[in-house]
Amino acid sequence: MCGIVGYIGNRNACPFLTEGLKRLEYRGYDSAGIAFLSDNELEIIKDKGKISELESNNSLSNLNFSVGIGHTRWATHGEPNKINAHPHFNHNKSICIVHNGIIENYEEIKIKLEKDGFRFISETDSEVLVHLIDYFLSRGYSLFQAVRYSLNEVNGTYGLAVISKKEPDKIIVARKGSPLIIGIGKNENFIASDLQALISYTNKVVYLADDEIAEIRNDSFFTRTISDESIKKEIEDVDLELEQISKGGYAHFMLKEIMEQPNSIQNSIRGRLLFEEGTSKLGGIENYVDRILNSRRIIITACGSSWHVGLIAEYMLEQFAGIPVEVDYASEFRYRNPIISNDDTVIFISQSGETADSLAALKEAKRKGALIVGICNVVGSSIARESMTGVYIHAGPEIGVASTKAFSSQVMIFALLSLLLARRLNMSKQDGSNIILEINSISEKIKNILDNNEIIKNIAEKFKDVKNFLYLGRGYNFPVALEGALKMKEISYIHAEGYPAAEMKHGPIALIDENMPIVVLAPKDSVYEKVVSNIKELKARKGIIIGILNEQDNELSNIVDYVIRVPETIRMLMPILNIIPLQLLAYYIAVSKGLNVDQPRNLAKSVTVE
Ligand code: F6R
Repeated sequence: MCGIVGYIGNRNACPFLTEGLKRLEYRGYDSAGIAFLSDNELEIIKDKGKISELESNNSLSNLNFSVGIGHTRWATHGEPNKINAHPHFNHNKSICIVHNGIIENYEEIKIKLEKDGFRFISETDSEVLVHLIDYFLSRGYSLFQAVRYSLNEVNGTYGLAVISKKEPDKIIVARKGSPLIIGIGKNENFIASDLQALISYTNKVVYLADDEIAEIRNDSFFTRTISDESIKKEIEDVDLELEQISKGGYAHFMLKEIMEQPNSIQNSIRGRLLFEEGTSKLGGIENYVDRILNSRRIIITACGSSWHVGLIAEYMLEQFAGIPVEVDYASEFRYRNPIISNDDTVIFISQSGETADSLAALKEAKRKGALIVGICNVVGSSIARESMTGVYIHAGPEIGVASTKAFSSQVMIFALLSLLLARRLNMSKQDGSNIILEINSISEKIKNILDNNEIIKNIAEKFKDVKNFLYLGRGYNFPVALEGALKMKEISYIHAEGYPAAEMKHGPIALIDENMPIVVLAPKDSVYEKVVSNIKELKARKGIIIGILNEQDNELSNIVDYVIRVPETIRMLMPILNIIPLQLLAYYIAVSKGLNVDQPRNLAKSVTVE
């Protein structure tokens, strides 16, 4: 959450800072600000709201400076207003900082600093950092050492950048639990919390690891650990194109990413299907397949949409690999002292690879000796790096705050993993080949659903003013119902709940009346007849049913009120097809309500605070 950028070099830094912050707004957009050195003084321009507002209200395009840092905020401590916006100054405006993360012991430090005469003006936890650094500077330390000593005093997480008017030729950055990347240029260097901000400027980067600090100048940088050990960092090449992070003619990133799914799914399976052998190949985990198969159990840990994928994976892995699977919210797992041993496999699913709760849960499971498998989208992300082995989903950058293409690609990776494990056990080559054929045809089927989006748009228009939605499914489609409801809540602000269809009778059916739209996932699978009965129960209570039905289904199409057709496929791949109309339904409703679907209120793309 929150985004950080910085520049030191010979050209005007302002275009990079403003453009970079716009690219990072998916991480938070409560307030924005920049700090820069001008005529040997530090200046800060910041305000509530988005970077584009800051830019036009302050004519940022007229500024010219060559050392600066910037921040876009997702508020944690203190409401989103100008005072709480970053950057933050020390008392005499000689240093300023931008910070991502949370300083957990800030109250304690603040009390001590206040006793020493430091005055705080914001409600943020971050402000303690700037005063603490000031405190160490006043004891004669260099900026680098003052930042290092300060970070030794704090508990919590940080992606931090600091500039000083007394040492104007450097930016100090540090990282713990919140990403920080150095972009290497020619006689200029950049910093950013995500690659997205850097890619039109450089493809050479250095990823800081946790507990590392760096001093960056025009033409050099050096790194140490916070505890003052020397470390050598590799400069890595990144492979990301500007086109991948632009809207490409679509009104919103979310729509672009929904529409991209035929391709993103192809990218997830590319090179991973072994047609001849009727199985799949996941290079990253090749050497760990035996250990996974011999696991006492698999625990899947994630948050949000990725957690829903975990629930789908539970059905797959139990069915195909016969290993008991548990699925846990990372935030619960990390605090309940889970019983884990070295014969467990713990799989972490994360689009961003930076989710704070997932990362902390990973470290806990690792400490207890489990095999750690990471399923991530962002290459080089913290979870990918901390995992012992893993698979990239290769869905491409996901910028829309609501996860769409990452969800379908994550499900696909579990389909590939289940196939691989089943073929190592007792699945026949013929059965494996049949699954491969289905996997290989899924992109075409997604395309077919997307081509018929007008039907969904019309349905969305009819339901845009409702206050509630219910989503029902059974088996593999129960987690899809949860995910559909989450999409609706987060971008259209309509209360929505997902439920296992049969559970309705145990309480929620009391909610059903002629005003309640209910999206029912009813593909022709082994529980189809049961779902038909559930739908009849709802119709008897005047519920309005939007049925997600297979193409040949003429039975339910006469019972439900609205029909959205999806092609048939095998059970384990159904979630990939069935989620598409639910993504579109949420999208079109949010658009017709005039909402900003890419930047829904209160949300941020990657949740790097707990
Ligand atoms: C919902 C959504 C979130 C994320 C969750 C986990 O649309 O995007 O619920 O799924 O914050 O994020 P990752 O997968 O990056 O760990």
